[in-house]
Amino acid sequence: MHISLDKQVALVTGASSGLGYACAKGLAAAGASVVINYNSQAEPAEKLAAEIRQQGGQAIAVQGDVSSQDDVNHLIAQAVENFGGLDILVANSGLQKDAPIGEMTLQEWQKVIDVNLTGQFLTAQAALLQFRKQKGQRQVSRATGKIIHVSSVHQVIPWAGHVNYAASKGGVDLLMRSIAQEVGEEQIRVNSIAPGAIATAINAENTEGDAAKKLLELIPYGRIGAAEDVANAVVWLASDLSDYVHGTTLFIDGGMTLYPEFRGNG
Ligand code: BGC
Repeated sequence: MHISLDKQVALVTGASSGLGYACAKGLAAAGASVVINYNSQAEPAEKLAAEIRQQGGQAIAVQGDVSSQDDVNHLIAQAVENFGGLDILVANSGLQKDAPIGEMTLQEWQKVIDVNLTGQFLTAQAALLQFRKQKGQRQVSRATGKIIHVSSVHQVIPWAGHVNYAASKGGVDLLMRSIAQEVGEEQIRVNSIAPGAIATAINAENTEGDAAKKLLELIPYGRIGAAEDVANAVVWLASDLSDYVHGTTLFIDGGMTLYPEFRGNG
């Protein structure tokens, strides 16, 4: 069995580092042309785009803040202008601004909701309008278009000290399922992935050294994830191999959502 995303165009938001970076790389390796979105870190995004082109693929890096509708429209326009359309959206941009509930500022709350939830709404909406516009014109996949929301295990696991983040990811779950229910009949396929503890910059202080040992107690499978674990799943979800998978969340968490604290307890 071979996964090919040949002739397909993917937009990955927040792709200058971490999961987005790995997803952009994985999608390009599977043959997709990739729009690598970044907000503030141009250099790694440009570097990845150049690397993909050197290896014979197609990629461009485009700046844009996913919480701005104008920026999101610009990202889609760049995909169409440079590569002729859009087939895959990986709505990945996300951030954390952690604080105990009593100390969390309105700004910290709002920023996380703006990027992690409103950003997912704006990018999904813009992608879906583009899918509708090009319906019947692109014979590159069984689906008319594919949207992959990047959620988190914290769409189901409450997270003290991170209420903004957990609320945003809980929101992503119902955003995804409601969109999936609404647009399924148009053969637009909508799913989420929910990564657990993956070693990236967002959680570097928890995934290294002594903190890593503590974290491992929460992971039945016994290792912290790598960004490639997530990218591999995204490539599959973007491909026709998962064509009947719609409106679901794929947890990529080494079993973190199995609540391992309950082993021999409760
Ligand atoms: C967060 C990480 C955290 C992981 C497991 C992710 O969604 O971004 O910081 O380590 O969930 O708690």
